[in-house]
Amino acid sequence: MMLPKTALAVAALALSPVNAIWPIPISSNLGKETLFLDQTVKVTYNGQDLAYAVGYTHPKGTKFDSKSIVQGGLERAFSAIFQTGLNPWMLRERGSSFEPQAGNGSYIKTLEIRQTGNDTQKVWNGVAGSVDESYRLSLDGDKASISAVSAIGILHALETFQQLFYKHSDGQHYYTASAPVEIEDAPKYPHRGILLDVSRHWFTIKDIKRTIDGLAMNKMNRLHLHITDTQSWPVEIPALPELTNKGAYSKGLTYSPDELADLHEYAVHRGVQIITEIDMPGHVGIEQAYPGLSVAFNEKPYTWYCAQPPCGSLKLNDTKVEEFLDTLFDDLLPRINPYSAYFHTGGDEYKANNSLIDPALKTNDLTVLQPLLQRFIDHAHKKVAEHNLVPFVWEEMPLEWNITLSKDTVVQSWLGNGAVGQIAAKGQKVIDSNYNYYWLDFDTPVWSTYYPFNDWCNPIKNWRLIYSYEPRDGVPDEYKDNVLGGEMAVWTETIDPVSLDTIVWPRAGVAAEVWWSGRTDAQGNNRTQYDALVAL
Ligand SMILES: *[C@@H]1O[C@H](CO)[C@@H](O)[C@H](O)[C@H]1NC(C)=O
Ligand SMILES: *[C@@H]1O[C@H](CO)[C@@H](O)[C@H](O)[C@H]1NC(C)=O
Ligand SMILES: *[C@@H]1O[C@H](CO)[C@@H](O)[C@H](O)[C@H]1NC(C)=O
Ligand SMILES: *[C@@H]1O[C@H](CO)[C@@H](O)[C@H](O)[C@H]1NC(C)=O
Ligand SMILES: *[C@@H]1O[C@H](CO)[C@@H](O)[C@H](O)[C@H]1NC(C)=O
Ligand SMILES: *[C@@H]1O[C@H](CO)[C@@H](O)[C@H](O)[C@H]1NC(C)=O
Repeated sequence: MMLPKTALAVAALALSPVNAIWPIPISSNLGKETLFLDQTVKVTYNGQDLAYAVGYTHPKGTKFDSKSIVQGGLERAFSAIFQTGLNPWMLRERGSSFEPQAGNGSYIKTLEIRQTGNDTQKVWNGVAGSVDESYRLSLDGDKASISAVSAIGILHALETFQQLFYKHSDGQHYYTASAPVEIEDAPKYPHRGILLDVSRHWFTIKDIKRTIDGLAMNKMNRLHLHITDTQSWPVEIPALPELTNKGAYSKGLTYSPDELADLHEYAVHRGVQIITEIDMPGHVGIEQAYPGLSVAFNEKPYTWYCAQPPCGSLKLNDTKVEEFLDTLFDDLLPRINPYSAYFHTGGDEYKANNSLIDPALKTNDLTVLQPLLQRFIDHAHKKVAEHNLVPFVWEEMPLEWNITLSKDTVVQSWLGNGAVGQIAAKGQKVIDSNYNYYWLDFDTPVWSTYYPFNDWCNPIKNWRLIYSYEPRDGVPDEYKDNVLGGEMAVWTETIDPVSLDTIVWPRAGVAAEVWWSGRTDAQGNNRTQYDALVAL
């Protein structure tokens, strides 16, 4: 095939490697000079020296201060550069002239970090949009400078900073080949997350922390823990001890209040907010722990009552259920609100047939059940609000059950088909987890091919499919701001701690890239897999 000359020139330009920053910054100006990073680089934070302490661990507690958060980010960035080190030979031709002669060139002697705003509590536990995550980063001569409004912006800058440096093959020098550097960056979407289901499979705190590390590296800021389901109840509720005694897979496969507090703190120190979900009224398996509050537990044939066995759902019109929820929320929610703006009450895949076998209702008539479900949700969400949290729900509540939600409630969409636009047009805030693009556990298109074995266990999606999709597509301009971002969903029926990392990464980072800098380039063209390759 003959290509016109201009196309060849464009292709050559597109294939010349530029840098390794991911997500691709909104705006960057990079040179081609080598600049070494001195291991004794002097770091200042708002004019005061900031020591680089190997193995720095953050102070414990719910009072967060910007300096310790920046200190943690610095430790991670310098450890990544000086201890781990990035070897260029997966990205560049080995033995090419890419690697400079060791130490031949200028050195960065100072890293000056400036924070121009004061962080309020909202920076750690605010709703989407309450944190300014932007930053500026420059490397020139013997100085690197970072400037950001919030400590979270500084964390993002430090992630970018570390991605600029390679470890020299002599093991003693650290350099960038892209100086001078001028980057101005800020995310397009304020909600960039992963949903991790810790009910179908149990994950250790260490596994979850490792996932938070990955989120922070990709400048993502939300970890949604789907923390209960019919399969297991791993979250300890001291006021309701039977939930884990009878509901966890086994003793020890649970999360204690101390462990959860530690996890939340770990996340905040990495710019990540954890959103906890107790799914209801469906997806509830508490019948053995607290009999009489739910119906249809393990009922068969399961397809009449739920999407996946074992079934189980809370009774809709029962004061004992309301009391149970009050006790549950009074125990759990005060342990969440120091670290998060939100609490997710689920609401997916609820089936009217559950109430057909509820002795108090014996009906699946929607006109009877809809007002009862509305009351159920109103009761739960009033309690959530009393604990200074904003409710989150799955899309079926407003779209299938016509549930009226408070204006601040965020809806999580997953069924595709324009649902995001419909929810946004109702004036409701929405995040996208469209299963055709954002469910990491399986791939959709093959379903029809292998029918009737459409069992949600099919091979996984290609990253290019994920990269092709943007949540605000097709949403009318006037409602686009209601689309806060998205979450990659990690449902764990077929994922455990062994496979977790390979299922989640790098594909979640592909969506993170779109949520950070959008799917289009500076010229307004859709970016493609080739643009992603150029980022290397
Ligand atoms: C040292 O760097 C200069 C430019 O900074 C370059 O011209 C020279 O070739 C380098 N020397 C070696 C031995 O690489
Ligand atoms: C931050 O707080 C300090 C001390 O209270 C104050 O001097 C400074 O003006 C504040 N900066 C901003 C950007 O609000
Ligand atoms: C509801 O249950 C009845 C049996 O009582 C069954 O015939 C029907 O198919 C079920 N409906 C759904 C939507 O599963
Ligand atoms: C719901 O419960 C209330 C009392 O708690 C009762 O008066 C009402 O009839 C119930 N509704 C239905 C549809 O059974
Ligand atoms: C919700 O409203 C739609 C449209 O008015 C209706 O078709 C549907 O049956 C309603 N669903 C419930 C659960 O009331
Ligand atoms: C980008 O892709 C979307 C979805 O495929 C399409 O609607 C849009 O027209 C494309 N934009 C450009 C500039 O090609």
